[in-house]
Amino acid sequence: MTTQQNSGAADGESLTITDNRTGSSYELAITDGTIRATELRQIKVNEDDFGLMTYDPAFMNTASCRSEVTFLDGEAGILRYRGYPIEQLAEQSSFLEVAYLLMYGDLPSGDQLSSWTSDIEGEAAAPAALADLISAFPKGSHPMGMLQSAIAALGTLHPESKDIADAGNRETQVKRLIAQVATLGAMAYRHNAGKPFVEPRSDLGYAADFLSMMFQDGDSPYEPDERIVRALDVLLILHADHEQNCSTSTVRAVGSSQADPYASMAAGIGGLYGPLHGGANEAVLAMLDRIQTKDAIAGFMEGVKDGKERLMGFGHRVYKNYDPRASIIKKACDDVFEVTGVNPKLEIAVELERIALEDEYFVKRRLYPNVDFYSGLIYEALGIPLDMFTVMFAIGRAPGWLAQWNEMLNDKEQKIARPRQVYVGADERPYAG
Ligand code: CMC
Repeated sequence: MTTQQNSGAADGESLTITDNRTGSSYELAITDGTIRATELRQIKVNEDDFGLMTYDPAFMNTASCRSEVTFLDGEAGILRYRGYPIEQLAEQSSFLEVAYLLMYGDLPSGDQLSSWTSDIEGEAAAPAALADLISAFPKGSHPMGMLQSAIAALGTLHPESKDIADAGNRETQVKRLIAQVATLGAMAYRHNAGKPFVEPRSDLGYAADFLSMMFQDGDSPYEPDERIVRALDVLLILHADHEQNCSTSTVRAVGSSQADPYASMAAGIGGLYGPLHGGANEAVLAMLDRIQTKDAIAGFMEGVKDGKERLMGFGHRVYKNYDPRASIIKKACDDVFEVTGVNPKLEIAVELERIALEDEYFVKRRLYPNVDFYSGLIYEALGIPLDMFTVMFAIGRAPGWLAQWNEMLNDKEQKIARPRQVYVGADERPYAG
């Protein structure tokens, strides 16, 4: 047996691997509970061998970056942004303060928050070209498709955003994107509703201004109920980041090619759109609409357990415990329903949850409600239509995408994202015409 020692393994924790094909042993350093996948490449059967790779479809067990943004312990049901527990941020912070925290790493001082807020408000008016773009979509187009297109189109109006090496320039684009995602989302809704676009107002604050851009009608200024505004702000906070999920990994992957942040964020919106990710909030309400009555729940659950469909808003790749965001949203439902009256679908949702938490199928698989299970009930109570739910998620997630994009660009270890594959197709064969 030959032993080859990897430098770096000598002082700290290490892993010894024996290749039974050759009898050689290798010692690899363990850092933060990981080994470096590229170090496996030294494990070869001969000099011509490419070296060992890992095979990890869907990145079930691969860390693609080192990040300081969000800590998530799925076993314990813990979520923290930059070290702050999500429960405390939801209780005491505001969405724009959290956006600052995600971006810069610490909570802002009063002055920092004021200038961050006014810079974002200053970017909120949509350019005329985007009003034309959104107006050109056929009525009934999905707002996520409109939002994705509009964010990509916004980049064409800001070619200077391609200078991603300039930190100040990146900050300007980040503020503009956080502002515009709300404006463009509201415009997509107004277009489908056949209503004129509403200009942003800087006197309202981010969440209330979004509601105004959605629901202002007639001449008197829109005055949202404070409890509704707070509930929406909390929902945005809860969605603001969730480490390396499908859409965030997409933003990082596209950004790693040095694409501008508009192209990167538009790609992230595409990732979020699907029903297994952000689109689940829409799918939950469609499911509750279909179930309709408590009597139909048992039959529906049998179908889920037979594998005919999924209980949408349940289960998570990382959480094997109650999603802490779902607990906070469940409480926020009470505040909103105090103003709007109870959404009758809440009763069906609560009953589905009760049954699932006791049923062996869900218990064995450790399936709990996730962030999407209750959020749609609130959106519906606020008068936000079903196809806008995932847009709400995108507005909330924008600061997380951008903080992660910025972190990726500052990380000297990152390069263009480029996974390997295991080729299992045909061997070379002649083309016989
Ligand atoms: N309903 C019924 N069975 C489920 C569900 C569900 N919602 N989720 C997972 N399972 C079962 C699945 O059939 C599998 O069973 P078996 O081992 O017998 O084949 C087992 O649980 C493991 O599921 P998986 O599909 O291998 O798990 P995953 O980590 O690949 O998928 C998930 C995670 C979130 C895509 C999945 O749980 C799901 O489809 N949930 C419903 C959609 C949803 O609510 N998505 C929102 C996620 S949270 C918001 C976000 O971050 O986007």
